[in-house]
Amino acid sequence: MKILGIETSCDETAAAVVENGIGILSNQIASQVEIHARYGGIVPEVASRQHILAIIPIIEQAMAEAEVAWSDLDGIAVTIGPGLAGSLLVGVNVAKAVALARGLPITGVNHLEGHIYANWLISPDAAPHFPLICLIVSGGHSDLVSMKGHGDYVLLGRTRDDAAGEAFDKAARILDLGYPGGPAIERAARDGTPAIQLPRAWLKGTDDFSFSGVKTALLRLVEGDKVSSVADAAASFQEAVVDVLVTKTVEVAKERRARQILLAGGVASNGLLRQRLVNSSPIPVLIPEPVLCTDNAAMIAGCGYFRFQRGEVDGLDLDVIPSLKLA
Ligand code: KG4
Ligand code: ZN
Repeated sequence: MKILGIETSCDETAAAVVENGIGILSNQIASQVEIHARYGGIVPEVASRQHILAIIPIIEQAMAEAEVAWSDLDGIAVTIGPGLAGSLLVGVNVAKAVALARGLPITGVNHLEGHIYANWLISPDAAPHFPLICLIVSGGHSDLVSMKGHGDYVLLGRTRDDAAGEAFDKAARILDLGYPGGPAIERAARDGTPAIQLPRAWLKGTDDFSFSGVKTALLRLVEGDKVSSVADAAASFQEAVVDVLVTKTVEVAKERRARQILLAGGVASNGLLRQRLVNSSPIPVLIPEPVLCTDNAAMIAGCGYFRFQRGEVDGLDLDVIPSLKLA
């Protein structure tokens, strides 16, 4: 089964063709990062307009790269939320138009569910094993999710304030490292050591996270002129966030007797987080390659395949749900 995936929830216009939920035939991404960088963050109105310009060419590129015609496709999967309403609308409307014109079934995918399913694209021989724990860390979420089967999500913990990616983005702004913040912090941290002790919010007795305290602590140091090395500050911030994410995830996986830990979302492309989680976990850890961690449409197409397998086909009244929850 070949599925065309379409993703326009934020600032990447993406299209991909994936076979049987595991084989990537193409994965095309048009990034708007340079356009938004000059504003220091995503401007929703600009994002929607860029999606309109990029969506048709990017679908054509994905089909060309996969060497498929419309008649070779078996269905369309599109992100319906969570995300920016105006951005989501572009992908959903194009997906519905194609479904109607070509008589293809359509399924609406939760963006976070898509991130999880990037782990099925790692290798055809390494499908994840249930029960598992997945840590989704993106610009808007830091969710700990338990999965006992396909499409079965139990939310164990979430952020109480800033998401992990949001914290990286804000810390980069505080340190004047530019946008997007995650990669900027990681780059700067390479020349430093985590010499500055920053606070960790353990929120004992819960599986929730909180990252606003560590961000505020960094801000106070900068405001008080107490940061002599930006590289050390970046390394210390990265260390504090990774420490909490890894420690809590491994704890939860042990408690729940999970067989595997999955990592997902844009922050999962962080080298220290990847390495630390693998080294700290007593059970196998799966992490998609970085390009499948940040927003892409292959993960949406892959997830769509499993939805179609469960008969989860939507009608042409499919609509965006900007604040869609996973569970
Ligand atoms: O999943 P994603 O691409 O988009 C959302 O669904 O939000 O995640 C974007 C987030 C941003 O906050 C970005 O700063 C962060 O992921 N990020 C990183 C890295 N690459 C992207 N954070 C830390 N280290 C990275 N290398
Ligand atoms: Zn995302």
